Amino acid sequence: MQYVLNGAIADVPSEWHDESLLFVLREYHGLVGAKFGCGVGICGACTVIVDGMATRSCQVQTAELTPTTQVLTIEGLEVNGKLHPVQEAWLAHAVPQCGYCQSGQIMSAVALLADGDRADATASSDAILSAMNDNLCRCGTYQRIRDAVRDLIE
Ligand code: FES
Repeated sequence: MQYVLNGAIADVPSEWHDESLLFVLREYHGLVGAKFGCGVGICGACTVIVDGMATRSCQVQTAELTPTTQVLTIEGLEVNGKLHPVQEAWLAHAVPQCGYCQSGQIMSAVALLADGDRADATASSDAILSAMNDNLCRCGTYQRIRDAVRDLIE
């Protein structure tokens, strides 16, 4: 089975097809940016972007992927040694604390900002927090997440 992972065709052997995308990313491809948190689609630590949508990779069965499915992980954000603007904003605002949830937070922000209409609709602080609400952070970095996203929208 094939799909597109960070812009390149990825092959997954049949013995991995019954596993979650999160497991395959981490254990087969060795991309450990997406984290296992709850495993039941609640925390958002495993968020990657699938066909443009922020997606909980723990809830995607690898067998659901097709040769045209585009999966973007945090490892695919950096291009030619240049960080993605969301990553730059995260650094500028020193967002992470323990860091465990931050890959998922960043991927959700990337998907939000790539959707112009959705980004326009989230220009207020409350709307940004609401749009990022599905990603939990036990350290409580929400204020810095909001500030970083707001910088990118303005
Ligand atoms: Fe996937 Fe928590 S590990 S949502």
